[in-house]
Amino acid sequence: MATILRADLDRFRTTVDELVAGHPVCTSNRYAVWFADGTASREEVRHLAVQFSVFSHLFVEAQLRKVINATTVETYRAGKEILLNELGVSFNGQVDVDGVAVDGTVEGGRFKFGAAHFEWLLRFAAPLGLGFEDVGKRRHGTPATLHFCDELLRIYGADDPSTAEGASYAVEHWAAAGFWKQLIAGLRAFKARECAELPLGFWLWHDRVEDQHAAHTADELEEAFGQPWFDESAFLAAVTDMLDGVAVFWDGLWADRNAAAGRAG
Ligand SMILES: [Fe+2]
Repeated sequence: MATILRADLDRFRTTVDELVAGHPVCTSNRYAVWFADGTASREEVRHLAVQFSVFSHLFVEAQLRKVINATTVETYRAGKEILLNELGVSFNGQVDVDGVAVDGTVEGGRFKFGAAHFEWLLRFAAPLGLGFEDVGKRRHGTPATLHFCDELLRIYGADDPSTAEGASYAVEHWAAAGFWKQLIAGLRAFKARECAELPLGFWLWHDRVEDQHAAHTADELEEAFGQPWFDESAFLAAVTDMLDGVAVFWDGLWADRNAAAGRAG
């Protein structure tokens, strides 16, 4: 990469990172902060499980769209790594304490029904009294959750590559911003208090892969930035729109929690 382009990239990266870091979903996710306290009731944990299952399931649709709209075979394959892993092909890399790899490739890997992330969520939902028919469908989503899912399809799955890249960057950096750890803290407390059989694998695994994903989208930004089609303003607009969509999801959970508890937000 030419020196002048490197300086441009560094300037642009700073702009993007400030945009992400300053967004309310990263600075003040009230739901996640509250949940980390560990005071959520069984009903509140069930609500999280259902809404997260809708997002997690419909994310697969957005990821497929991202793959279809990829501009190079490299990004097409990178998208497929995530898609196939999501559906049940484990990575072949270093395994975590639960024996599940958090890096590597799905190339040459073996599909297992039980390795699908949605099936991890099913196993999480079972001790909460939620079965297959209770989770993961559009009809289970609140308007806020569905808004987020539809924004993922529209922006993360966009056919305009600058828009799609901006959304990817936003999603991965939001995910690396700490909400997994906050949810895990709350779930650990709930498990210790009243639900010893609750498996936390879904949450723990996602927390472990996040840092790697964020590093990966940083490489993707560099790659995209050098392309003739790259449009800075479309990328930045997608970052903001996607984070706004994410915020609607969390604010929806927060509003639901306050409504159920009879509190004002
Ligand atoms: Fe996943």
